Amino acid sequence: MDTDIIQCAQHNEPKNDKQQPTEAAINSHDLDVMPHKQGLQPRTRYLSSEHHPRIHRLAVLTSGGDAPGMNAAIKAVVDAADLQHIDVIGFMHGFNGIFDRDYVPLTPRDVKHIIHLGGTILKSARCKTMHETQGPSMAAAILHELSVDALVIIGGDGSFRGATALAPYYHGQIIGIPGTIDNDIDGSDYSIGFATAVDTALDAIDKIRDTADAFERIFLVEVMGRHSGYLAMAAGIASAAEQVICPELHPQLDLPAIAADIRYAQQQNGKQSYIIVVAEQQGLSTTHLADELTKLTHTDCRACVLGHLQRGGSPVFSDRILATKLGHFAVQQLLTGAHLMMAGEIGGVAGLYPLHLTGERHKSPDPALLLWQQQQQKSRDSSGEDV
Ligand code: F6P
Repeated sequence: MDTDIIQCAQHNEPKNDKQQPTEAAINSHDLDVMPHKQGLQPRTRYLSSEHHPRIHRLAVLTSGGDAPGMNAAIKAVVDAADLQHIDVIGFMHGFNGIFDRDYVPLTPRDVKHIIHLGGTILKSARCKTMHETQGPSMAAAILHELSVDALVIIGGDGSFRGATALAPYYHGQIIGIPGTIDNDIDGSDYSIGFATAVDTALDAIDKIRDTADAFERIFLVEVMGRHSGYLAMAAGIASAAEQVICPELHPQLDLPAIAADIRYAQQQNGKQSYIIVVAEQQGLSTTHLADELTKLTHTDCRACVLGHLQRGGSPVFSDRILATKLGHFAVQQLLTGAHLMMAGEIGGVAGLYPLHLTGERHKSPDPALLLWQQQQQKSRDSSGEDV
């Protein structure tokens, strides 16, 4: 993955020339996205300085599931743009704000005291119109009408798909910033909001442990994550949960094996609390899993769904720092001509990653942690014997 990242040390100097778009620039930009029009992947690249006009007006929006730290990212974008004398507007309710021409001017004063706030001052939403055939071209026409030279999208893979669909019709530059509690975006070690969501889940699981210990009960705690087990694995490992159920660890769910492990733990240590962190499953409710396990273990299993609680709250320090770093970096990179890229962080270094690749493959979990958890969970076979 690292080799795909375009590290940006050589592009660090913001260029803020007064150049106006030339015919060649616009044509070149059109050519850049033509392959996408033909159903191929769009090419992402730096536009050379003569091919990207000065950015006078930048728009920012937050889209998809909100994540703690989105406000910190908005603030960084606005502050960084202001330093370059760029006018900033914020579209409300994700891409819907473009179609509704619902936007607000954003100055450093407007974002002065938002770094600690959860949610997003620009509101968020998923946008149906963007997925309709005429949606992307309509959005591009409105962006042109509003003289938006560059668009910053803070969101997850669905939002980035919207951005990629927009590109063939839009003459400005587009850059993404990963903001989702799921941490399922390729091209960045962490997405904004993930660390806070793990902390929130941990706080809940630790509390559930107290009551589970008191009653010597079995609990299944469901965390979010859509198709990814990142959140479940992080919360499960950090709370020393006895089991984590997520796609990466359980491609095939083996409830009899889990029931055997519960019985084994009870034989070894007597009746005790037992916590299973479950990544939300598509079409399989955790309450149903708890009922099935109750039948298999003849012990009362309780389900606790943490749900949207995990999306709220004040961002932890690492999300604020990541958001600030990526917001600033995104604006700097726009000034050097970055287009159709996501500003991410790998190994502590900010870099760019092609936007259309961010959701292309399942982001692999940390191999060391995956191995650790696999060893914890596979130390016994389904008969409850050590293997
Ligand atoms: O993508 C973020 C996320 O919170 C997922 O973890 C979850 O599956 C989904 O959004 C929930 O979406 P909604 O808020 O539309 O219910």
